[in-house]
Amino acid sequence: MALQLFQAKAERLRDLTHDVREIGFRLLAPAEISFKAGQFVSFEVVHPTFNRPVTRPYSIASPPQQRDGITLLLNLIPGGPGSTYLFSLKEGDHAQFKGPTGGFYLRDDATRDLLFVATGTGIAPIRSMLFDRLERGPSRAVTLFWGLRSERDLYYQDELETLARRHANFNFLTTLSRPEGSWKGQTGRVTRLVDERIASVDKLAVYLCGNSGMIKDVSAIINRRGLCPIYREKYYDDAGPQEEY
Ligand SMILES: Cc1cc2nc3c(=O)[nH]c(=O)nc-3n(C[C@H](O)[C@H](O)[C@H](O)COP(=O)(O)OP(=O)(O)OC[C@H]3O[C@@H](n4cnc5c(N)ncnc54)[C@H](O)[C@@H]3O)c2cc1C
Ligand SMILES: NC(=O)c1ccc[n+]([C@@H]2O[C@H](COP(=O)([O-])OP(=O)(O)OC[C@H]3O[C@@H](n4cnc5c(N)ncnc54)[C@H](OP(=O)(O)O)[C@@H]3O)[C@@H](O)[C@H]2O)c1
Repeated sequence: MALQLFQAKAERLRDLTHDVREIGFRLLAPAEISFKAGQFVSFEVVHPTFNRPVTRPYSIASPPQQRDGITLLLNLIPGGPGSTYLFSLKEGDHAQFKGPTGGFYLRDDATRDLLFVATGTGIAPIRSMLFDRLERGPSRAVTLFWGLRSERDLYYQDELETLARRHANFNFLTTLSRPEGSWKGQTGRVTRLVDERIASVDKLAVYLCGNSGMIKDVSAIINRRGLCPIYREKYYDDAGPQEEY
């Protein structure tokens, strides 16, 4: 299906950490959006160095049940055209994006437990999937492992606690790779959690989102355990920009 062009208004801006912002857009025209949990929209911005338009995709972090707007979640990348543009928006500003699209979406398979693994803002599409799956009623076990760097990078912890209290089949663990002191939770990379806690992949579907290294390493661990569906969304290569796109 052809991508739709949406006109929207930035309505809710929330700084979640020193470099992560949540932006709520209300749709102006068309007034509603229909998407699958996990899909993304794209913004066209002018690259300041090359002075030409570049396209940057952002996953929808809100659930598909919300039709009159979308929530995005993003890191500020210093000097990055896409994130700098989105961070420059103020409440009331208008913006336009295309979409929704993408093959990383929640499959309807009631026979499998779900394992979600995210690093950084890779939590965005998984948040949409979690709300979608959990709010639709009882299901099989749902587990989230989320890797962040340090205490100052933590967000959505209260929201996830609330979801876990409301849904007995949902568990999550946040792990910090570079904790600085007060943290009493999990430490190390998410790969350690997957390695230590996922013994069998029988009846499991795995969704991975974030940096390329995590996706490669977690896929390798899962593949060593056996065969199961693995869905992946790579945000960026740890090796740095591969090409100017
Ligand atoms: C399908 C898809 C969905 C995406 N959804 C999101 C999203 O919901 N939220 C989001 O923050 N980003 C998301 N991204 C990344 C986003 O599209 C941009 O690449 C990012 O905002 C950087 O763009 P930029 O123009 O500001 O900087 P650029 O100059 O293009 O990027 C500079 C470098 O920043 C690093 N980088 C890129 N994205 C991230 C990130 N998310 N976290 C940490 N470092 C990064 C990479 O090393 C990259 O090479 C998504 C990417 C894809 C492919
Ligand atoms: N967030 C910050 O405080 C900070 C500070 C300076 C620079 N930056 C730069 O900003 C960008 C975004 O940083 P970010 O922290 O949001 O995202 P990130 O660099 O992707 O890190 C997020 C989490 O993913 C982990 N990770 C990295 N490779 C992995 C792998 N192969 N398997 C499993 N986990 C893996 C990181 O662990 P490790 O810590 O072990 O890598 C970290 O816990 C990066 O380009 C980074 O260099 C960020």
